[in-house]
Amino acid sequence: MLDMKGAVAVITGGGGGIGESIAKYWVGCGGKVVLHDVVPEGLARVEKDILAMKGEVATLVGDVTKEEDNAALAKLAIDRFGAINLVVPCAGIIRDGLMVSPDRETGKVTAKMPLAQFQSVLDINITGVFLTVRECAEQMINNDCSGLICLISSTGSLGTAGQINYSSTKAAMSVMPKVIVAEFFRRNLGNKIRCVAVAPGYVGTAMTKGMNQKALEKILQEVPINRLVEPDEVASLIGELYRNEALNGEVFWIHGGLRLGSRG
Ligand SMILES: NC(=O)c1ccc[n+]([C@@H]2O[C@H](COP(=O)([O-])OP(=O)(O)OC[C@H]3O[C@@H](n4cnc5c(N)ncnc54)[C@H](O)[C@@H]3O)[C@@H](O)[C@H]2O)c1
Repeated sequence: MLDMKGAVAVITGGGGGIGESIAKYWVGCGGKVVLHDVVPEGLARVEKDILAMKGEVATLVGDVTKEEDNAALAKLAIDRFGAINLVVPCAGIIRDGLMVSPDRETGKVTAKMPLAQFQSVLDINITGVFLTVRECAEQMINNDCSGLICLISSTGSLGTAGQINYSSTKAAMSVMPKVIVAEFFRRNLGNKIRCVAVAPGYVGTAMTKGMNQKALEKILQEVPINRLVEPDEVASLIGELYRNEALNGEVFWIHGGLRLGSRG
């Protein structure tokens, strides 16, 4: 079992939501955090909270779609704390809409999802994750670090209407751990760096607050625990995935029983 005490976590999207919860959970367990977000205010708030917990934290404002920002983030972790033991690329967005919208009366398509709307989600949720993980993995290997790369998939990876962009990115997150684990295994790194994904259902963060609330209410009626998953519950799962070194290459679901069929 790995110990979090003194271990260093790099978290993108650390200025709020699930990233913030993981950061605070990690610090609560004795770890140090390097946080990255595109919104400076969120990052400053989380940094202040962590310092009040007497935790050790470094922050960097940046954009995960930019190669140089990810390189600077991974370097910051090594320069400040000398290691990277956990990588959680949490930066992610939704930009929901139908691929094509046929008019209910005429049956003819009146609107299409613009390329920019589709691409913006891919840029952050896939390319951003790839860049964060690539840069952190390079530093982990070159600095002889052990630990875990934990990607964030979603129950949306199974396919959700209105989310052709988001669902596609989250399906990618569920396959990437298998590729990464296989590549590390080939280079004898498999016993040092593991990779998994967590796939949350609907979690109580700004992301779900930004959804159509009527639709969300309807979805929650089909969740056996009858509520949103708490970001702290996702953080606790990631903590366990880090500790337990037998967990590797898989997707770990956390959704309160969502999609297990209707009541009655
Ligand atoms: N909330 C949910 O229900 C839910 C469910 C399943 C998966 N997820 C995934 O969990 C991750 C975190 O989601 P969340 O609910 O905490 O969302 P959130 O919106 O609360 O937080 C996301 C954070 O990412 C930051 N961010 C956005 N674009 C960025 C960029 N280009 N560069 C750097 N930072 C950027 C935002 O500023 C924000 O602080 C996402 O990948 C999301 O898809 C969320």
